[in-house]
Amino acid sequence: MLLLPTLASLLYLLPFSTPQSLLSPTPPKLEYLYTAHVDCLQSLYETQGPAGIRKAIPIVGGNFTGPKGLNGKILNLGADWGSTDPQTGIFTADTRYNLQAEDGANLWLRTSGSGVPAGGLHLRVVIETGDKRWYWLNNVVGEFGVSLLTEVVLMVLQLLVF
Ligand SMILES: *[C@@H]1O[C@H](CO)[C@@H](O)[C@H](O)[C@H]1NC(C)=O
Repeated sequence: MLLLPTLASLLYLLPFSTPQSLLSPTPPKLEYLYTAHVDCLQSLYETQGPAGIRKAIPIVGGNFTGPKGLNGKILNLGADWGSTDPQTGIFTADTRYNLQAEDGANLWLRTSGSGVPAGGLHLRVVIETGDKRWYWLNNVVGEFGVSLLTEVVLMVLQLLVF
């Protein structure tokens, strides 16, 4: 007679190696990367669509500076294509823009995230760079706290480093 092992016994036989970090999770660590002043213009476009009222807010410059030596300027070629939920009035940003560091590194950022009740926005950030010194930024989880100051947007980028 062929004995079919039960699922439970199969699982028992599998090499069991749950990382300790999953068994007793600790809060991820935030590291401060930089504060940016992002210069924006008035929205060029505002259209009601399936995702709400979509805007196109040009990102035309600015600067960033922080304690890890990543400092520089924001290039004049980005935008925030964010939308406003007509049910809640909450704005959700959706940006693409470029940073040029003083050390010559070029970075491309994508951020997205919504307004929060305390004011400002919380954004998730994805960074892409080919620069060897900053290559580790390709693999981090980051968040911006954003406050809106007229047409200059102040962002404080903190990174969750795993
Ligand atoms: C960065 O931009 C802000 C806002 O425009 C400005 O006040 C500040 O002086 C700039 N900082 C540097 C280092 O250029």
